[in-house]
Amino acid sequence: MPKTPDYFRGKTILITGAASGIGRATALIFAREGANVVCADINEGGVEQTVEQVNAKFGNSGGQALALIIDVTKRAAVEDMVELALDDFGGIQFLFNSAGAALRRSKFLDIDDDLFERTFDLNVKGTFYAMQAVLPHMLAKKFGVIVNMGSMSHRRGGPGSSVHYAAAKGAVVTMTMGVAREFANQGIRALSISPGPVKTPFQDAASSSPELVKKFLDDVPMGRFGEPEEIGELVLFMCSDACQFMTADTVYVNGGGGWR
Ligand SMILES: NC(=O)c1ccc[n+]([C@@H]2O[C@H](COP(=O)([O-])OP(=O)(O)OC[C@H]3O[C@@H](n4cnc5c(N)ncnc54)[C@H](O)[C@@H]3O)[C@@H](O)[C@H]2O)c1
Repeated sequence: MPKTPDYFRGKTILITGAASGIGRATALIFAREGANVVCADINEGGVEQTVEQVNAKFGNSGGQALALIIDVTKRAAVEDMVELALDDFGGIQFLFNSAGAALRRSKFLDIDDDLFERTFDLNVKGTFYAMQAVLPHMLAKKFGVIVNMGSMSHRRGGPGSSVHYAAAKGAVVTMTMGVAREFANQGIRALSISPGPVKTPFQDAASSSPELVKKFLDDVPMGRFGEPEEIGELVLFMCSDACQFMTADTVYVNGGGGWR
């Protein structure tokens, strides 16, 4: 929650990965607070549904929603996304890079160049391109907050199934820290979030058998997966004026687990 009532009203957040899961939940939470939400994703139907949900629930209370179909792995598309958002809303105060995936589970020795490169393109380059495209506008206004998606896996290394993904999320966490520290005295904050398992289509793909679901849950003392809204509310707090001395770090959200 913000310190100042109506803090988010009239401000704009650009969310990648907004067609589903954590990105969609975050779009609805920011719209609830009166923010304009730019919902960007490669999944056209999904992102249009997100905008419909925002308009149905919050259309009369202020914030506007815009759907943009983009592939975050393409620098030119990401630059267009930022220009279109600026054309519509005049500014971007917040950027949430939620687009990401493990793409495929693989034992370490079976990770081929294609899987490795696509995983880094999506999780690392997508985040890198979006930050490079948005930051000049934030710097011009001397104000902006960037939130990137890490993962608990960056602490664990993803042995046996997802070293490629864990390494990519490690890069996101480190890049966030570097950006935060480079621009800390110019009105910019950047943080990352490193969740344990959260109930989204991403996790449905990872928990493809009852044994895998049990393995995940055994490692969470709270005995359940997180909800996407539980991440979205943290994004809201991070972007708010209640969080002004916090930058550079990653925040773990995992029901107490994920350290084994
Ligand atoms: N769900 C979890 O357990 C969990 C845990 C840790 C981290 N994460 C991270 O959280 C983020 C959100 O994941 P989620 O759980 O909401 O999954 P999700 O699959 O529901 O959402 C990911 C979204 O990213 C979009 N996307 C994929 N490739 C894209 C591209 N090239 N360009 C634009 N958009 C693209 C997808 O279409 C989808 O809408 C991801 O970065 C994921 O790695 C998720």
